[in-house]
Order: sequence, then C-alpha cells, then structure tokens
Amino acid sequence: MFWQLLVLVALRVQDVSAQGKLGASDFIRFGCSQLVVERTDPLVNPGLLPSPHMHQIVGGNSFNVTMDPADIDPPKQSTCTSCIYTEDTSNYWTASIYFKSPENGTFKRIPQMANGRQNGTLLEQEGGLTVYYMRPFSGTNKKTVVPKPGFRMLAGDPNLRTKTGKAPGICHRCLKASERTMGGSGAPCSSGDTSEFPNKPCPGGIRATIIFPSCWDGVNLDSPDHKSHVAYAPGVGSGGLASDKCPSTHPVRIPQVMYEIMYDTSGPFSDAKYFKDGKQPLVYSFGDPTGHGQHGDYLFGWKDDSLQRGMDALGTKCGSEDCTQILKIQAGKDAIACTKKQQAPEDVGTSSWLKELPGGMMVA
Ligand SMILES: *[C@@H]1O[C@H](CO)[C@@H](O)[C@H](O)[C@H]1NC(C)=O
Ligand SMILES: *[C@@H]1O[C@H](CO)[C@@H](O)[C@H](O)[C@H]1NC(C)=O
Ligand SMILES: *[C@@H]1O[C@H](CO)[C@@H](O)[C@H](O)[C@H]1NC(C)=O
Repeated sequence: MFWQLLVLVALRVQDVSAQGKLGASDFIRFGCSQLVVERTDPLVNPGLLPSPHMHQIVGGNSFNVTMDPADIDPPKQSTCTSCIYTEDTSNYWTASIYFKSPENGTFKRIPQMANGRQNGTLLEQEGGLTVYYMRPFSGTNKKTVVPKPGFRMLAGDPNLRTKTGKAPGICHRCLKASERTMGGSGAPCSSGDTSEFPNKPCPGGIRATIIFPSCWDGVNLDSPDHKSHVAYAPGVGSGGLASDKCPSTHPVRIPQVMYEIMYDTSGPFSDAKYFKDGKQPLVYSFGDPTGHGQHGDYLFGWKDDSLQRGMDALGTKCGSEDCTQILKIQAGKDAIACTKKQQAPEDVGTSSWLKELPGGMMVA
C-alpha cells in the first residue's frame, strides 16, 4: 500500500501548509520501521552491552554496540535498512516510554503506532519513527550542506527534569481521539505542545518530537557531549523551525533533522483516574517521570551524495513524501522486513508487566 500511495500523494500539500510555517517543499520526510528495541547506545555508551537504558532503533542494519567511524561505514556494511529510502542506512534512536502502574508499580512499554498523516503513507509498522530533513524555514539562503560520513549528534538532555529552554526542539503533543491519524495541527513544538509529558489523557496518542540542531562547526564529526559540535539556529522551539542564521561558531548550515514518534496511549493508558492532581503515569526508559529529559540520537549513514542530491532538489523534484525521482525507494514490506536480533536479549515489557524498568533504572 505504502509504495503505491506514495505516488498518488506526491505533492499533496494541504496537510503541511496547514502546519503554519511548514512549507511542503522545505523538507523530505519518510517513515522508518523498527530495526530493534534493545539496550544499546553506540553514541553515548559505545562498547557497552547492555547499555543502561532501553532504546528503539531504526535504520541500517549495520547498527552495532560500537559504531566507530574508523571501522564502520553504514552504507557499505548494511545489507538492508528499515527506512523507505534504500540509500539511507543512518541510525535514528530514542528512549522508550513506559507506563508505571499507579496501582502496583509495575511497568509496561507504551506501544508505538504509525504516523498516519497522508493515510498511513509514513511507514512505521512494528513501531519505528518518521524522519524529516529540513532546510531553513526563514531567511533567504536555503542551501544546506550534508555532513560527512561518521557524523553523529544528540538532541535533548536526559538529565533535565524541569523546563529550562535548553532543549528547544523537544516536545510532546497530546492527541485527541479525532487527531489520532493526522497528528493535530500547528508547527512542531508550538504552543499546545509540552516539553513535559501531557498531564491529561491522550486518547489519540502522544506524538513526541525531537528537533536536532541545524548548524555545524564544519570540522568535528562528534564532540564529548555529542552536542557542542552543533548548534541551533534561531527559530526552533518558538512555534517555528530554524532560520538560515547559523552562529559564527557553527557556520555550516546542515539539514535539520527532526523525528516524530507516535505512542499509542489510548485505552487503559488514558484512564482519567491516572491524571488526578496534575499526576500522569508515564516514565521514560531512563527513569524520567517528567518527560523533560526526552532525547534522540543520530548517526549519519547516507550513501555517497544521495542526501545532498535530495536536499538540493527540494522545491523542484523533492518535497514531503515524494523524492523518488532522486532517491531510491523500496517496498514498505522490505523496509519492515529489515530487523535485527536483540544483542542483549531481554523482555522489553511490550506484552508483559515488568517489576522494574529494564536495566533497573530508578525513576527519579
Ligand atoms: C557487531 O560487532 C561485533 C563485534 O565487533 C561483530 O562481531 C558483529 O559481527 C557486528 N555485527 C554486525 C551486524 O555488524
Ligand atoms: C498492575 O496494574 C496494572 C494496571 O495498572 C494491571 O494491568 C496489572 O495486571 C497489575 N499487575 C499485577 C501483578 O497485579
Ligand atoms: C484518508 O482517509 C480518510 C478516511 O478513510 C478519507 O476520508 C480521506 O479522504 C483520506 N485522505 C487522503 C489524503 O487520501
């Protein structure tokens, strides 16, 4: 279905223009199905198996516990990708969300669901996430430079437990039942969205957004905190997306990466009894009961200059879901078939209740 619909919905732009500052030609977006849910983190804890907390990972199957750019070249070493564009063997990963039973303190992983905008043409069966690559939304210079192989970065801060403004593009949108398919309206991380977990039932699910910085120092593929080699351009988190103004310390304008992850909080997870007195029952897999610590990890892995060609074709041959004149696409079922076995096998709590968060992460 996906691959047929994709052609039909090419340049069907009304949903994006309804999002205010999002213009249909300013980004490429596509779905990636789940590669694996496991405790690994080659960015923050390279070599550690298992890593401290649970992640849900998509992209190329060369993903591993260690992803040293000296040893691993994802486009060469991946034999498949769970993303719809086959030249994209990048890895994209985030923490999982758990429901902590207020009744007995046990945990269950919140299931993910498809990002249904464009009627399910964004592919996230078996979980997964939607990736956007965006060019500046304001300013006159919309040219972006794709970073080099080995590039990686982190957005958000797992240690945050209060609203600080230090993680501008990190938010949650509480969806009404009627918004389940289309994800509501308004630019990502605009006024209705919250840095914290919603403190009310979200029967249509929660859409978690992670917006990465769009400015790079042009030199370092990584940095000790995985953040200081990149910076945000003005605009992000104030109801809009980045402008073309990169700071002099980080002068290279790179495509702005954004993730959307859909969580199915319908049914028992939306019971009003869990939301009294400002309380809410969700906790991130790293123990964060507030949601402010939401973060995402990114590891670049596009083949050759494919992403650059895609970004350069925005507004002409590429826009929104349709970049098939430039990028190679695979059938949805083939993306879904690209999975990996857990490297540290364990019950992630999708169908059973866990006595503690995986890895024994304390909720605090
Ligand atoms: C992951 O790394 C281990 C150890 O370096 C290696 O033996 C294994 O083949 C790698 N797996 C993949 C899928 O690359
Ligand atoms: C714990 O509580 C949840 C509901 O919050 C329930 O579904 C589950 O069965 C309970 N587990 C036990 C062991 O009582
Ligand atoms: C999406 O599906 C709904 C319900 O089936 C339908 O009303 C709507 O026209 C569809 N939209 C598109 C863009 O195909």
